[in-house]
Amino acid sequence: MATITIKHITKAFGDNVVLREFNETFGDGEFITLLGPSGCGKTTMLRIIAGFEKPTSGELYIGDQLVSGGKTFIPPEKRGIGMVFQSYAVWPHMNVYDNVAYPLTIQKKSKAEIREKVNRVLDIVHLAQYARRFPNQLSGGQQQRVALARALVAEPQLLLLDEPLSNLDAKLRETMRFEIKEIQRQLGITVVYVTHDQTEAMAMSDRILLINRGVVQQSGTPEDIYNRPANQFVADFLGKVDFFKGESRDGRILFPAMGGQSIPYDGPRKGGVDVAIRPENLYFAADGPLSGTLESQYYLGDVDDCRVRVGDTLVRVIVNGHEYKTLTPGQPVRLGIRDFMVFEDDGLLEQMLQIQT
Ligand SMILES: Nc1ncnc2c1ncn2[C@@H]1O[C@H](COP(=O)(O)OP(=O)(O)O)[C@@H](O)[C@H]1O
Ligand SMILES: [Mg+2]
Repeated sequence: MATITIKHITKAFGDNVVLREFNETFGDGEFITLLGPSGCGKTTMLRIIAGFEKPTSGELYIGDQLVSGGKTFIPPEKRGIGMVFQSYAVWPHMNVYDNVAYPLTIQKKSKAEIREKVNRVLDIVHLAQYARRFPNQLSGGQQQRVALARALVAEPQLLLLDEPLSNLDAKLRETMRFEIKEIQRQLGITVVYVTHDQTEAMAMSDRILLINRGVVQQSGTPEDIYNRPANQFVADFLGKVDFFKGESRDGRILFPAMGGQSIPYDGPRKGGVDVAIRPENLYFAADGPLSGTLESQYYLGDVDDCRVRVGDTLVRVIVNGHEYKTLTPGQPVRLGIRDFMVFEDDGLLEQMLQIQT
């Protein structure tokens, strides 16, 4: 069983606390993504699971077995884990077959067993016809699939992937997302996937752990995290969002920086609030609650990306490309709003914006 249980794991390099009090359980067969900005501790967590790094404190279990904690430390090669990293790390002097066979060769498996397993896994990653080629005769995507095949050939129950697609071009990255997901489904293995790319995380994961500065901000399905973000950081990290300072009272939220215009609100928060609006949740509507003037319009085919000045505030509005009609800059418009998120004004947003700038 490839469940992973992480109990109170903290990791510091000298004074630098990189992971704080990690407490998570990953289910058997689950596709988990560690998502977060560069430097937030994703690779460190993955390396702790793999056994390349010892936690400063806390315990790690794979299945029922304690692999790290107290005096116990099981080395990486005894953890039964497959791994793929950002750089393909395939051996240039070996052909595809030998690259993939390597983990079994060093385990001194029989030739017949090696042949059967290598052929099976090459089929899975769609490389059967390339077995005799050398890495320099393959595309980046094919080389990365060699690395994936090599990670899978020993039939691990747990696969760790650290930004495996980030060296590939955009189109290939998209195809590979679905391939990896399909392979995971087919084999029923547990995957822990690391990325800083929110679209990748959304497309592949059963569950996303969004991390900031070594602390899990939210754990949930892509839908949860996108639609019900726990805080402003989460709302900002996934998808496009703009924040506005508001005042909640009498069933409305009033925006001082929009000349005091307001939108209806029947939620629980009162007083000063941070309102997060995804630009795709705004639309042009003659009876919308906000009025302003159009500043700019960019037709991008799939979407129509506009900026509207409302009072002193520039508001981004993204409407579906098929609803496109030419507007004139300077023309008055009204905006309707489908959905928005309201957070307590706890100073977090200011802190966050400071970190970013
Ligand atoms: N071996 C190490 N020694 C010292 N600091 C490290 C080491 N590995 C990682 N760090 C630091 O830990 C933090 C998190 O790094 P990392 O886990 O690689 O982040 P991510 O993968 O999310 O980009 C960074 O500040 C990094 O500099
Ligand atoms: Mg990393």
